[in-house]
Amino acid sequence: MKIKTKAFLLSFGLLASILIPLFFVIYYFYSQYEIEEEIESLQQTANEIISHNSSMDLLQMENNPLLNAYLPNHTLIRTIDPSSAVRNQVSNSNEFAAFPPQFMNTPQAYLDRFQDEAIIIVRSPITSGTEIVGTLEIISEPRELEQSLYHLIMITCLVALGAIFISISGSLLLARLLFSPLSRMITIMKEIETSMEIRKLPMNRKSKDELYHLADTFNHMMERIQMSMRKQRQFISDASHEFKTSLTIIEGYTSLLQRWGYEKIDLCTEAIAAVHAESIRMKHITYQLLELAELDHESKLSLSVFDLVSLCRETIQLLQPLSTKEIRLFTPSPILEIEADRLQIHQLLLIPLDNALKYAKQRIDVHLESHPSHLYIRILDDGIGIPSDELPFIFERFYRVDRSRSRQTGGSGLGLAIAKSIVELHQGTIQMKSERNQGTEVIIALPRKKTFNSSKN
Ligand SMILES: Nc1ncnc2c1ncn2[C@@H]1O[C@H](COP(=O)(O)OP(=O)(O)OP(=O)(O)O)[C@@H](O)[C@H]1O
Ligand SMILES: [Mg+2]
Repeated sequence: MKIKTKAFLLSFGLLASILIPLFFVIYYFYSQYEIEEEIESLQQTANEIISHNSSMDLLQMENNPLLNAYLPNHTLIRTIDPSSAVRNQVSNSNEFAAFPPQFMNTPQAYLDRFQDEAIIIVRSPITSGTEIVGTLEIISEPRELEQSLYHLIMITCLVALGAIFISISGSLLLARLLFSPLSRMITIMKEIETSMEIRKLPMNRKSKDELYHLADTFNHMMERIQMSMRKQRQFISDASHEFKTSLTIIEGYTSLLQRWGYEKIDLCTEAIAAVHAESIRMKHITYQLLELAELDHESKLSLSVFDLVSLCRETIQLLQPLSTKEIRLFTPSPILEIEADRLQIHQLLLIPLDNALKYAKQRIDVHLESHPSHLYIRILDDGIGIPSDELPFIFERFYRVDRSRSRQTGGSGLGLAIAKSIVELHQGTIQMKSERNQGTEVIIALPRKKTFNSSKN
């Protein structure tokens, strides 16, 4: 069932559950009030008859004109002696004559049924001195009461119909106001689902209600999906491009080898070297891509407490023999403890150090800094630097400042993307500062984690 129908039924049901009992209560109290009024009026008539006439006159046979003067519509008035015999009787409604007369020495007034009709019976004792000599009986059919109750039912039915009509139109209007934007959203979402095309919901609502926020959130989600799809496409095209270039080189050299390889030994050596270099390159990219995919999915870190100073020293010792450029380590303390994944931090250090070794002129400085909640690693080189307009993209996958130069240095543009993923897994930050031909600085901040406090260092 649609929410629209549910809302409509709910508001209608709520109104009906209020109106129906209310009308019954009104009907009950109004009818009680009218019956009491009618009984009171008949009692007054009875009192008038008894007070204005003597018991003798009332009980004297054939004295009907006396009672006639008091006879209201649809009524019977009679006087009854102690033996329940009728002495005088006047009526303008023949059917009451069949109602059995009854002597009563106490006053009585009540509502009864006779021949399936409601009747009011009033009995008043007729006294002579202190002796009760008869009963004045008035039987009346409350036709006016019936009519006014009939009018009441008609009015309440009309009011109920009016209220139901207003409720139906009100709830329909409300449903349209509330749910037509929702229906529009559902239609657009279905269109997106079938066409797989990213679209946004219209945001022309003036009031910033829940529906506005829903559409706003949906549009933000669409933007993010669009961005991630674009990044994914870009990544696939970049990765394919990387492999395509290497494969083209390999294909070119192998076809040269097929044609001339056996005759020209120089060409043979060059071709084998090129194919070997490209194979290494492709292997390097494949490993890096696998690593990135693992970092994307692996949320578990194998955390341990270790000394960052010794790890930096080990990493530097590993790289130093590969280059003539000097790597220096500066630390505020001989031991700086951190809780992190040691293997990943080792790999993280290798990435900017490898870059620095590629691009530095003479020297690379590694500064460690201790802050209350974080440890900072700053890696500075005196190399060619990175133009400021390229810096925002430096952590993107396959991004290289100078593609031809990077090819010579063997770079694939994945190193810094991997570094960023490792840092983010450790809830740290990484940033780069650089000036062309002045040098580059990589600043990594890693949280010490709450098991440590700064006073230790
Ligand atoms: N210290 C630096 N000095 C100058 N340029 C740098 C420095 N570090 C990075 N770059 C530039 O940023 C680019 C991206 O670096 P990144 O480490 O991500 O990739 P790469 O070194 O080319 O390849 P690899 O994936 O093998 O590391 C490099 O190609 C280079 O142009
Ligand atoms: Mg690199």
